[in-house]
Amino acid sequence: MNRMPLLLIGIFLTFLTSWIGLVATPYFQIGQYKPEVDEITKDSVPPPFSGQADQGSVVYASNGCIYCHSQQVRPSEAGADLARGWGARRTVARDYMYDKVAYFGTMRTGPDLSNIGARQPSVDWHYQHLYQPQVVSPGSIMPPFRFLFEKRRILGQPAIDAVKVLPPDQPEPGYEIVPTQDARALVQYLISLKRSSYPLPEAPEETPSK
Ligand code: HEC
Repeated sequence: MNRMPLLLIGIFLTFLTSWIGLVATPYFQIGQYKPEVDEITKDSVPPPFSGQADQGSVVYASNGCIYCHSQQVRPSEAGADLARGWGARRTVARDYMYDKVAYFGTMRTGPDLSNIGARQPSVDWHYQHLYQPQVVSPGSIMPPFRFLFEKRRILGQPAIDAVKVLPPDQPEPGYEIVPTQDARALVQYLISLKRSSYPLPEAPEETPSK
C-alpha cells in the first residue's frame, strides 16, 4: 500500500501547526504594538531610540554585555527585582517594541540594565565605569572595556568628553583618554534604557514586596 500521500500530509500538517504556533500567533499577539501617546503632551512611550543609541545596541551585543546583564524586570511576586530598585514596574512586551533584537539575557552577574538610563543618567559616569569599573564601583568583577577608548595627546584644550580617569589608571601628563565612536554610541544606548520608568496601562507601577 502506498502511504506516501499520508506521510506528506502529516509532514505538511506538522510544519503548518508549528508555523501557526510559533510565527502567526505571536505576530497577532505581540507583532502589532503601537506606542502609548499622551493625549495632552503628545509624548509617546516607549520613547523611540535615537540613531546613535541604535548603533550602541550593536556595540552592546558585540561586547557580550548580555553574558552578565539582563534587561527584564520581574513582577514583585516573582522576585526581588523591584525591591532592588531595578524598575518601578515589571517590563512587558511593549517596552521592547523598538528593539531590533531584545537583549533579555538570562545571567545576572551584574545588575539588570532595563532601567539604567533612569538610574544612572550621567554620561561621564558611564565612561568612567566602562574604563575602570573597579575604581568606580569597588570590588566590581566587571571587566574594563578600555579598548573602547583612545589615549590622545592633549592639543590645546582638553576634549569636552575626555574621561575623568581616577588613579591608578591616569594617563601620563599631556595625554587624555577619550571615548571612541563605539563608546559614545554604547553610552547613548545605556542612558536611553528607561524601560519601566514610564507607565503603561498593561503594567501599572507596583510596590515592591520585601
Ligand atoms: C563578567 C561580567 C560582566 C560583563 C561581561 C559586563 N558587566 Fe557590567 N557589571 C558587572 C557587575 C558585576 C556589575 C556590578 C558592579 C559594578 O557596578 O561594576 C556591573 C555593573 C554595570 C553597570 C552599572 C549598573 C548599576 O546598576 O549601577 C553598567 C551600566 C554596566 N555594568 C554596563 C555593562 C556594559 C555596557 C557591558 C558590556 C560592554 C558590561 N556591563 C559587561 C558585570 C559585567
